[in-house]
Amino acid sequence: MTVLALETSCDETAVAILRGDRSGHELLASEVASQIAAHEKYGGIVPEIASRNHLIYAPRLLDRAASAAKTRLSEIDAFAATSGPGLASSLMIGASIAKGLAIGFGKRYLGINHLEGHLLSPFFGGEKDGDCDIKPNVSLIVSGGHTMLVVVRSLTNYQLIGHTVDDAAGEAFDKVAKMIGLGYPGGPEIEEHARGGDPKRFDFPRSMLGSENFSFSGLKTAVRYLLPKLNVIPSEVEAATQRTKSARPGFQSGGVTTDEFQQGASTPLCFAQDEKLLADLCASFQQAIIDVLVTKTIAAAQKYHLDLVTISGGVSCNRELRHQMRNASSRKGIEVKGAEPWLCTDNAAMIAFAALLRLRAGFESQVTEEIDPNFALAL
Ligand code: KG4
Ligand code: ZN
Repeated sequence: MTVLALETSCDETAVAILRGDRSGHELLASEVASQIAAHEKYGGIVPEIASRNHLIYAPRLLDRAASAAKTRLSEIDAFAATSGPGLASSLMIGASIAKGLAIGFGKRYLGINHLEGHLLSPFFGGEKDGDCDIKPNVSLIVSGGHTMLVVVRSLTNYQLIGHTVDDAAGEAFDKVAKMIGLGYPGGPEIEEHARGGDPKRFDFPRSMLGSENFSFSGLKTAVRYLLPKLNVIPSEVEAATQRTKSARPGFQSGGVTTDEFQQGASTPLCFAQDEKLLADLCASFQQAIIDVLVTKTIAAAQKYHLDLVTISGGVSCNRELRHQMRNASSRKGIEVKGAEPWLCTDNAAMIAFAALLRLRAGFESQVTEEIDPNFALAL
């Protein structure tokens, strides 16, 4: 069975083709076109620009994916698309294309929850004899738009146990990076600068430790109030330049970035005299986020008697987070499975994977099903 999936929930246009049979599955193509540069000058995603770019990129990526997969669209067995959560005008593009292809070729259509794509991504490639066993686990989904803890009992049996009450973890990375004059996306920039820094130098808050929910806005405010005390005042111009520098338009093919976002992080001028200060600040901020994510995830695994933790979403690319999650979990006899780094940020391979597993389990969607910008993963 061969599935073609489109992902257009936000500012990444992506197409993937995944083939699955009894012996496993094979990713035939995975194409991603990033629009970061197009939105950069506006300081955030502009929905209308995003949807126009999806319209431009999607047909090109469909061609590229089909030729990389050496397959014709008529040979695809099912067409899938992210149907939420996300920006309505963006979701609509991918879903309409997938529905059109399904109707045109008389094939099945599947509307997939973006968060289910992230949640299942740690299992991508790990199946035996074609059977992908989704072991019960506590799933930590950490991205630019979401921070949530989900108890996964099996495919489609998900219980949301915690979510952020304000900023998502990735959003905190992005906002703090902007505040200190670093580029966008902020997570990789902060991780890069945190290397060698002292994570104990600044004592940032770890909010809501007693709860399964998350809050990162206090941490962001703590950084904001600290900066003037350190005499750090990055200029808007500098922050914008840094962001634009790192926000190159990117096309990814088969999980390999051809136009890397990160070409080595540069130091904002306001830290030029004291690079150690920047490293300590980044390390202390990053550690505050990691402490919260690790503590809550392990506490949830223990509470629900689960010996597997999975992590996915853009922030789970963070090597220090993975390292500390592994160390802390192994001390409690808990296994950690992380999505492969190229599968952590938004892509269509994870949507194709979720669609393939759902098809095998007998699910499919109606082409009359609407997109849902607030599509809940679970109650
Ligand atoms: O999953 P994703 O591509 O998009 C959403 O669905 O939101 O996640 C993007 C987020 C951004 O906020 C980015 O700063 C963060 O993931 N991110 C990281 C790292 N790489 C990406 N955060 C921390 N460390 C990283 N290495
Ligand atoms: Zn995402």
